[in-house]
Amino acid sequence: MSRAYFLGVTLLFLAAVAPIQAVKYQVVDRTNYIAGCIRFKTEIGSFYTRQLMKAASSFIWLTFNESIGERKDHGQVMLVVRGFRPSQRALVSRTSNDTILINADHIQKYPGDARLELSGILFHEMTHVWQQYGKGKAPRGLVNGIADYVRLRAGLAPKEWTQRGSGSRWDEGYAVTAYFLDYCSGLKNGFVAELNKLMKGDYSDEFFPVILGKTVDELWMDYKTDLDLPVELSKAE
Ligand SMILES: *[C@@H]1O[C@H](CO)[C@@H](O)[C@H](O)[C@H]1NC(C)=O
Ligand SMILES: *[C@@H]1O[C@H](CO)[C@@H](O)[C@H](O)[C@H]1NC(C)=O
Repeated sequence: MSRAYFLGVTLLFLAAVAPIQAVKYQVVDRTNYIAGCIRFKTEIGSFYTRQLMKAASSFIWLTFNESIGERKDHGQVMLVVRGFRPSQRALVSRTSNDTILINADHIQKYPGDARLELSGILFHEMTHVWQQYGKGKAPRGLVNGIADYVRLRAGLAPKEWTQRGSGSRWDEGYAVTAYFLDYCSGLKNGFVAELNKLMKGDYSDEFFPVILGKTVDELWMDYKTDLDLPVELSKAE
């Protein structure tokens, strides 16, 4: 409850300091077409979701350290809350280019604070809208890891995430990669911003040594080893 309140205050703050930008944000609520699907309307709503889209975008541009001219050129971003077809019912959400789809049934059935859950999903999906893909060459696990890193930095990592330090490969994706990127950011502030900028025209694992002076495999091993150290030592901020 206090977290939701805190998020509300953060949103107002971000909305107040966000520079005027030309991006148009649109929310399409199609939950009317699903019988009994009321939680998006009653607990979240389109207005709040639109504010969240703006706040998430500002947060992502800050995280990526991008000025207006450096950002991806999306004139509009659309978010649609609707039912997913049977073959995709297990999916929570997905994003393609400037369009985010949210599975209304996931929000309806979520066993907890629906606003907080949508916020977390949105910071992840909105990152997909704004991040670089190395002209399609970036590993999927890294792309999703960066999106979850943003979610983590926004304070929206859910309880059900795997533990920090888990996983067997750095590019396994989602929380595993997000915590690894968080470790790399502890070695150099702005690491993810630099990585994302390099990913604008290409992708190579060599980007890690370019920024941090060590290969990604060395960094992954350091990360796994440092887990045995007291938390204070491994969490250089
Ligand atoms: C992605 O969205 C932008 C507008 O935000 C549009 O100009 C561009 O053509 C889209 N790209 C694809 C591949 O659909
Ligand atoms: C952000 O980018 C500017 C250059 O545009 C650079 O001077 C600054 O060091 C960067 N900040 C971080 C944290 O990387």
